[in-house]
Amino acid sequence: MRKDYQCSSLEHAKMLPNPFEQFDNWFQQALKSEVMEANAMAIATADKFARPSLRMVLLKGFTSEQGFFFYTNYQSRKGKELLENPHASILFYWDVLERQIRIEGKVEKMTEAASNQYFQSRPKKSQIGAIASPQSSILASRKELDDQVEQLEQQYESSESIERPDYWGGFVLIPHTFEFWQGRSNRLHDRFQYRLESTNNKHWKIDRLAP
Ligand SMILES: Cc1cc2nc3c(=O)[nH]c(=O)nc-3n(C[C@H](O)[C@H](O)[C@H](O)COP(=O)(O)O)c2cc1C
Repeated sequence: MRKDYQCSSLEHAKMLPNPFEQFDNWFQQALKSEVMEANAMAIATADKFARPSLRMVLLKGFTSEQGFFFYTNYQSRKGKELLENPHASILFYWDVLERQIRIEGKVEKMTEAASNQYFQSRPKKSQIGAIASPQSSILASRKELDDQVEQLEQQYESSESIERPDYWGGFVLIPHTFEFWQGRSNRLHDRFQYRLESTNNKHWKIDRLAP
């Protein structure tokens, strides 16, 4: 239970000035590595009383103009919390690379057009699953869910496309802070934080943090 990290190291001069490019660089390496699901990330939200909650979701895209995208049920616990308090934090941990990335920012609902486009790209069974599941509400039994899926499968049997329900769609996290962590020997890890200094010219201040 006491692993010494020796994979790699970080130097200020080699950190890319734009954190989205730095993220992309590490993400591409994670995709090529043995990491099981490189796009799996934890997302922390908090309710209006600042009580936190955390769960995994899948990153479905990112751009430096917009931010980091994921999809969920807007009426789930995370959905409700994000709609009442948009501050959130996402985290990636890629064990084989001995790397962690933390990203903090504000979340916005994706445009309806973008959510529709993604929903239409999903397999029919996933679309039905999204419609059928009242995510995070109490179910009386597994059967209740299975019956709902079966009923929807019959309803949409001959339909070519299924409309996205308004309670399911995307969120985009627009970051103001990133932290790239590389494990090093003897717990003397390398950490670099990027903070957005000016929203206008998108200038990011890069600082080394103590491990
Ligand atoms: C690897 C992994 C990926 C997941 N991806 C998603 C996802 O993209 N969207 C989603 O709504 N739930 C996803 N889940 C399920 C969530 O972790 C969670 O159980 C669900 O969204 C309900 O969370 P909530 O009650 O906090 O809203 C994923 C779970 C795991 C373990």
